Amino acid sequence: IHIDWDITSAERGGYEHFMLKEIHEQPQVIRQALAGRIDEKGRVRLEQVFNEHVWTEIDRVNIIACGTAYHAGLMGKHLFEKILRLPTDVYHSSEFRYGDPVLSPRSLAIFVSQSGETADTLAALRLCKQRRIRTLGVVNVIGSSIARECDKTIFTQAGPEISVASTKAYTAQVIVLSLLALYIAQVQEMPGVRVDEAVAELTKLAERAETCMELEEQMKGIADMYRNMPLCFFLGRGADAHVALEGALKLKEIAYIPTQESPAGEMKHGPLALVQPGVVAMFGATEPDLRDKVVSNMQEVKARGGTIIAVTTDDDTVTSRASDDVIRVPTCVYPFMSALLSIIPMQFFAYHVARLNGCEIDQPRNLAKSVTVE
Ligand code: G6P
Repeated sequence: IHIDWDITSAERGGYEHFMLKEIHEQPQVIRQALAGRIDEKGRVRLEQVFNEHVWTEIDRVNIIACGTAYHAGLMGKHLFEKILRLPTDVYHSSEFRYGDPVLSPRSLAIFVSQSGETADTLAALRLCKQRRIRTLGVVNVIGSSIARECDKTIFTQAGPEISVASTKAYTAQVIVLSLLALYIAQVQEMPGVRVDEAVAELTKLAERAETCMELEEQMKGIADMYRNMPLCFFLGRGADAHVALEGALKLKEIAYIPTQESPAGEMKHGPLALVQPGVVAMFGATEPDLRDKVVSNMQEVKARGGTIIAVTTDDDTVTSRASDDVIRVPTCVYPFMSALLSIIPMQFFAYHVARLNGCEIDQPRNLAKSVTVE
């Protein structure tokens, strides 16, 4: 018998595109990112990063990255400030390197990069080293320049990511930044932070991400309905606002649909002028404390003829009143984890819009996986 196959489709493991394969790998990637980093007592194990006393010296964190890694950095800021009350700034590498940044000698610079080779991020790292600032990499590719040149590196352990549009690397980056925040809380014995509880929730996340894989059919249907939209908003508040940026990036980079992403509360300061019939707005509404505010933003868009897609949690009873389509991810005790899960339906949405519209997907026009030139 003769079997037709080629090495690329074999590597795609039966999926039509690497991107789809990588979206589906996320439950496993969450397990891998946690592997070896939680002991049997539910404590975070990252001793190899810096000596314990270093963490008490750090008074400020700067997270520096590009693209999707920058969006993961925003989630890092959210966690560092919420859990640790540690002031954290997030910079685009290209701005940081030429921006003459003010750096406290007691600060920590964290470089988030899938490839470990992004030119701007590498240059920003070298600048911090010249200024003798402590540097930490959150990197996927072992042996890469950023991994080698940082004082210390935590690997995201996501496995090779082939699709230009990043999916599983993002999830792994956010998991590693969460572990790091919890580790610092643990070392400093911060009162009021239940590290054990948060770790227990993190260990449930892979299974919850598996549940999110079942949303693919629903997202395919929604993608089919709106594939010709002229503009798609991505909105949210808190952690949902950070995920909205990443959801928008997926749609524009692979489906070439113009997007408008902003914190939902900023809509009335300009973006609302773009809403008219035919425009779609994807709202993240996973944060229970902010949900009422998000619902009023939904109503503002709806009143102007926009279509509302809500990504919320399975226990939410309020957003359905204001939305055309409701997508539900599992409710987690820590809302940022539900927000993280909400990127999965957004990835499926971008993927299926692109696929239905006949786009390239794994290699979108004008973009590269690893940007090693300025
Ligand atoms: C490119 C890729 C993105 C990636 C960004 C940063 O734009 O297409 O997927 O997020 O570079 O890359 P890095 O390897 O540093 O995470």
